[in-house]
Order: sequence, then structure tokens, then C-alpha cells
Amino acid sequence: MKVTKAVIPVAGLGTRFLPASKVVAKELFPIVDRPTIHYIAEEAWRAGIRQLVFVTASGKGAIEDYFDIDNGLELFLEKKGDLERLRMIREISRAVEVHSVRQKQQLGLGHAILSARNFIGDEPFAVLLGDDLVDAKKPCIGQMMQVAEKYKAPVIAAFRVPEDKIERYGIIDPDPRPVAKRVWNVRRMVEKKRIDPPSNLAIIGRYILPARIFDILESTQPGVGGEIQLTDALIALNQEHQILAYEFEGDRYDAGDIFGFIQANLIYGLRRPELKPRLLALLKQLCE
Ligand code: G1P
Repeated sequence: MKVTKAVIPVAGLGTRFLPASKVVAKELFPIVDRPTIHYIAEEAWRAGIRQLVFVTASGKGAIEDYFDIDNGLELFLEKKGDLERLRMIREISRAVEVHSVRQKQQLGLGHAILSARNFIGDEPFAVLLGDDLVDAKKPCIGQMMQVAEKYKAPVIAAFRVPEDKIERYGIIDPDPRPVAKRVWNVRRMVEKKRIDPPSNLAIIGRYILPARIFDILESTQPGVGGEIQLTDALIALNQEHQILAYEFEGDRYDAGDIFGFIQANLIYGLRRPELKPRLLALLKQLCE
């Protein structure tokens, strides 16, 4: 199961961030000084995935520009002798090869993934959702690639969520006996269900999937919210091939939610030596 390509859906409207997301794609909102999408791409490339396909919509063109080489800017920084910034700008634009496909209708996550079919072809591939920021020593998608390789199985990332947040997620019903530490056989999955959830183990936006999922998505009918749900296609895939849920090592922030976004900014900001003392002083002052 060698994974060399990742699908990153970025076509969503980002209504939770209106009015800001009216003019700037939410994927470009910065966590400290890098757009959210930078961390997502960085996770893929640290796991050895170089080819990214963004599933985009109108108004999202700046995401591709962000990963493009900007000769004018590089020359400017070089002349100015700002080598650290030059290094950063260069790194991101050379690390990954970016492609894009348009999702012409907003028919749901499953439909967005299906839009990338021609680019992926017949290979297993990764999916990374931009709202889920995973902070981990070893990239989350890389951890999952190892599990997929070892068990020759599709893998979905899982994370325990509080009871009152369950209805926001796809929820897994794991076999009570784990396959290994952090690895579960998926018995069942349900998408955004308020009543009788099978557990508190949520699906997080990282997946390692076989190309077979595209055939399944072709005939997946609209589900929750009238959208073609990836979870519904996964339920069908699980009938053919045991899917594994993997409780990754690392912390996860919901960057698609205003609180999660501010939380990530604070935590990532506190890691910056030039910001930490002032941020701590500010927090202390606010708590007094
Ligand atoms: C999607 C999936 C859901 C998953 C979530 C993770 O939902 O459909 O199963 O739990 O991502 O972030 P969305 O947040 O796109 O509505």
C-alpha cells in the first residue's frame, strides 16, 4: 500500500467563519504566521507524500498561489538579505507538487473525494481534511500509512471526543478487542448522529483509502444533510474489506471552529520563543 498522493478538499464555504471567509478562503487563515493549509501540506510532505490534489471551488485560487514559486518575492527577500524568510518561502513552494480539480457542485465530502478520481487513478491514497489540525511528532498521516502497510487495510484516524460533541462527527463502533495498541477493527460507522451513538470514538479528517472507494462513491446516495457522505461509502467498503480505525499519537485542533482556531493560535504561538513571554504575561494579566 504505497501512498504517494493526497487529496485535500478545500471547496467548502467556511460559513462558520463568515464574514471573514466571504473574501478569504478559510484554509488561508493563519495559525500564527502560516495558513492552516500550510500545516496540512506539511504533514503530508513530512510523511513522504509529494503530490497533493486540492479539490477546489471558485474563489479558492489563492490556495494554489500560496504553494507556487513567487520569483519576485524571492528576489526581494534575497536583496534585502532576509534569508530566514527566504528559506521558509522557498521550502513550501518546492516541497510539494500541487494540482487542483474543481468540485463544480457542492454535493458533500464524498463527492469532493470522487472529483479527484482521475488524478489518483488506481493507487491507494491519503485524504487530509483542512479543518483537522494534528500536532504530532510523527505526522499523523505517516503513522496511518504505517498501519495501512502493516495490515494491508484502509485506515481512518480516530479520536475520543466529549459526549456533547459526538453529533458533529462520524462515529465508529469498534470491535471491543483491539487489533493492536491504538488499532481497532471497525464494526460499524454512523455519520453525525445525536441519538444512540455507538461510542465516543470519532472519525477525524485523515484517511488512507484504496481506489475502490471511487466505484463505491459513484453509486453512493445522498445521506445526512442531503450530501454524498464519505462515511456512507466507507460503510459499504467495510463490507468488502475490513477497515481499521487508528487512534493516532498527537493533539488535534478543530481549526474549522472559531474556538479551535483561537486555541491553535494560542498553543502554536506559545511555542514561539519570541512570542511566549508576552503571551504568558498577557494571559496572566487577563486572569487576574
Ligand atoms: C467530516 C466527516 C466526518 C468526520 C469529520 C472530521 O465531516 O464527514 O465523518 O468526523 O469530517 O472532521 P465535516 O466536518 O466535513 O462535516
